[in-house]
Amino acid sequence: MEGKLRALEERRAKVRAGGGPKRVAAQHEKGKMTARERIEMLLDPGTFVELDAFVEHRATALGMDKIEAPGEGVVTGYGSVNGRNVCVFAQDFTVIGGSLGEMHAAKICKIMDMAVKIGCPLVGINDSGGARIQEGVDALSGYGDIFYRNTLASGVIPQISVIMGPCAGGAVYSPALTDFVFMTEKTSNMFITGPQVIKAVTGEEVSAEDLGGARVHSEISGVSHFSFPDEQSTIEAIRKLLSYLPQNNIEDPPIVDIGDDPNRVDDTLADLMPDSPNKPYDVRDIIAKLVDGADFFEVQPRYAQNIVTGFARLGGRAVGIIANQPKYLAGVLDINASDKASRFIRFCDAFNMPLLTLTDTAGYLPGVGQEHGGVIRHGAKLLYAYSEASVPKITVILRKAYGGAYIAMCSRHLGADQVFAWPTAEIAVMGPEGAANIIFKKEIEEAADSAAMRKEKIDEYKRNFANPYMAAARGYVDDVIDPAHTRARLCSALSMLLGKRQATPSRKHGNIPV
Ligand code: HXC
Repeated sequence: MEGKLRALEERRAKVRAGGGPKRVAAQHEKGKMTARERIEMLLDPGTFVELDAFVEHRATALGMDKIEAPGEGVVTGYGSVNGRNVCVFAQDFTVIGGSLGEMHAAKICKIMDMAVKIGCPLVGINDSGGARIQEGVDALSGYGDIFYRNTLASGVIPQISVIMGPCAGGAVYSPALTDFVFMTEKTSNMFITGPQVIKAVTGEEVSAEDLGGARVHSEISGVSHFSFPDEQSTIEAIRKLLSYLPQNNIEDPPIVDIGDDPNRVDDTLADLMPDSPNKPYDVRDIIAKLVDGADFFEVQPRYAQNIVTGFARLGGRAVGIIANQPKYLAGVLDINASDKASRFIRFCDAFNMPLLTLTDTAGYLPGVGQEHGGVIRHGAKLLYAYSEASVPKITVILRKAYGGAYIAMCSRHLGADQVFAWPTAEIAVMGPEGAANIIFKKEIEEAADSAAMRKEKIDEYKRNFANPYMAAARGYVDDVIDPAHTRARLCSALSMLLGKRQATPSRKHGNIPV
């Protein structure tokens, strides 16, 4: 027995050593941790249980029969984060570049299946040269198996992808199918075709970083939801994200009461709203004053900044917040903002997270680029996502809510359960200037002093329409509230709505405009 135990330990030590000291040192020199170090940092100390450590590849072509791949280039298992189960896989770049072959994929699929079976989040750490070239179609089939599982697990368990090295070719589509993509700056990149292929095909010269680094995907493409300067801060953020989420689609998010009074009155909230309706402000300052402990975890903070999305808690209950951002492009709705918000709304709805919408938008962004880019199709996603969501939906109209944007930002008409408006709210078909120019065109033209008449008519329109009272008179707005009491009203509405049940006609699935 002793000898057998020693042999077992030797085998295990070999697997734990990954690609060996030289490759581990090379990994560290790049500022990267190893797969095991990443997992240890992600999970609560001492909770990681490794599975399938002794899996081996069975490829023989192109010299593979002579290549040993400890752990098959991927470490898989389970452990806990903040005391709750999480399944995890981390590709090991020190073993054949973390490349994905048949058995490497089989390990990933097995832990994915386990996560779905037990109903817990899955975190996948990607650091790989892509499909293992020597394994040909077996590697491709492995990717297909993973994509299939990503799709079936979507909306069942939270899926988080972490990019901490190369992620190229079709490999990018597993992260893209998951709920959240984290990237570490400088050391990670994602692209379908790399710089060399691009140069050969289109003649464009671009570095891997400029093509698909963390900045590009966080600011320009929107592929990534979070990016952080190093692996430690990336991992800390994953733990924080998980703290808001339920384990699966049939659980509620955990309640975390930090002792912030749900009825806390904040007289400074009104001061954040500028006197002039055209002056910008940062809606995140308002969010910070409303939520527990001023703690707002923003999702995609650098992409489509005209809309703000993220998680926070109200009276200990996690909510998803969607807010127009007047500080950026006057909070207009455009293609990217619609895409960003719709995906976030659908995540929250899938995982029982109530939605809080804060409205203050100048409307839809005009422009040929937007129209030709399909703002109709993309904007429709927002309507669809809000209408489809059956979680509690609470809306606060802070200031401008004109035209289609009024409807799109979770109005009563799209199924909001509670709609509040601040006294500064302006709810109408269009803004005072545009409206006065159209409906009083004749009076303005015929007046001796056209400018004075225009001003008079704009003021008249503002008095009659640019306020929340006409919407409140119809019951589209449930109450016009003092900003100071917003938090109390939100917490109360949230408690009231906890038992919400909503029946919709049965169907296979809807057809969101993609
Ligand atoms: C087999 C691979 C590999 C791969 C890397 N390695 N990628 N082995 N298949 N795809 C091996 C290398 O031979 C090397 O082995 C070790 O991993 C480390 O790689 P290096 O090149 O030394 O590392 P580095 O200089 O850091 O460069 C990393 C890299 C580069 C940029 C990722 O390795 C690379 O370009 N790899 C190929 C990427 C690629 O084209 N993959 C296929 C994408 S298409 P030794 O023994 O020397 O340590 C794809 C299709 C998926 O994935 C389709 C799904 C639908």
